[in-house]
Amino acid sequence: MTDSPGTPDRNDPATLGEQSWAVHGGNVRGSQAIRTPLVMANSYELPEDAATRSWSEPGGLFYARNGNVNQHALEAKLAAAEGGEDAVVFATGVAALHAVFFTHLRAGDHVVVSTVTYEAVWRLFTELLPGRYGIEASFVDVNDLDAVRAALRPDTRLVHVETIANPTTAVADIGALAAIAHEAGALLTVDGTFTPPPLYRPLADGADLVVHSLTKFINGHGDAMGGAVVGAHAVVHPIRRDALVDTGGALSPFNAWMIMRGSVTLPLRLRQHLATAQRVAEFLEGHPGVDFVAYPGLASHPQHELARRQFGGRGYGAVLAFAVRGDLAAQARFVSALRLITPAGSLGHDETLIVQVAPGGRGGDEHYPRAFHRVGHLRLAIGLEDADDLIADLTQAFDTQES
Ligand SMILES: Cc1ncc(COP(=O)(O)O)c(C=O)c1O
Repeated sequence: MTDSPGTPDRNDPATLGEQSWAVHGGNVRGSQAIRTPLVMANSYELPEDAATRSWSEPGGLFYARNGNVNQHALEAKLAAAEGGEDAVVFATGVAALHAVFFTHLRAGDHVVVSTVTYEAVWRLFTELLPGRYGIEASFVDVNDLDAVRAALRPDTRLVHVETIANPTTAVADIGALAAIAHEAGALLTVDGTFTPPPLYRPLADGADLVVHSLTKFINGHGDAMGGAVVGAHAVVHPIRRDALVDTGGALSPFNAWMIMRGSVTLPLRLRQHLATAQRVAEFLEGHPGVDFVAYPGLASHPQHELARRQFGGRGYGAVLAFAVRGDLAAQARFVSALRLITPAGSLGHDETLIVQVAPGGRGGDEHYPRAFHRVGHLRLAIGLEDADDLIADLTQAFDTQES
């Protein structure tokens, strides 16, 4: 989608650049309106032969849990943006993650999961799925490819990783992990929330399914929740049929419409997020008040070279982990001294957000780099403000620490 070959056609992603697709992708025109209307209907008029239809079958328009106008428009847009055949959207990112596991795992299956993974995934694989369905998980440092190979078993069905891990910012080698998973007959599922397209497309490197919390960068404005799964039709359709229709975590038409609108500026916003994150990371690394900074765009990051190669030099995400010198209370004092940056637990918003995280992390201290054990860390999710203003806010917060 980058080269815009041929005559641009607003309905054909192959002819459009990234930002053109972000503007036009999935848009449904009708009744003379040039934008997809918000259709707040939970039911659609049925054909006369409705008696023969399966109410569990997705596709078409008859009941909004099985699919609705705004959901379908967003799915078409996201599928092409990720370079996937099909997409299905959900009410939240966690609903999308659960839908993948619910659909593609059976009782007694084994999975390999990154030791650093989103909280809900951690709990799903340590507690809920093992306890209820006997699904067994091996937690592995996915930057150690030999350890991943060693963890695979004949009954391993799935390997799950994050492109950039929340919160350590470790970067997973998607191409290598896909090859290892496929050799063992397992699916590679990738949470791409920290690296939305056009920054990175895991499917092109061999991932089977990519999951997004649309709540974050793709919506981008901090005002709606959503989730998506993208991949080949053969692996996405069962998710739509089993997990969307019959467990019911459908995205509301209003949120689909909001996310569609937010995503129009995704490539433009990403450019600003990425450039500002790099500047702020370099500022923090050079500041004497900083204990450590983890950001894949810094040469000091353990997977900096991998990130440069994998993300094609486009950028390194917009989430940093750092700690200020001092104890746990010093981290809290630093947060309370900020005047522009807001303490809140999300990311990918227009507004820069910071959250204090306790030492170690979910899953136990042994899974986190040593620096994260001392005083915990501050997760800084860069927004769209001027980099100079963010740096000025951080500077004055450091100054209050020193006095
Ligand atoms: C990497 C990652 N995946 C999934 C989620 C969950 O998404 P949601 O909050 O939309 O359910 C989050 C939320 O922070 C996240 O950071």
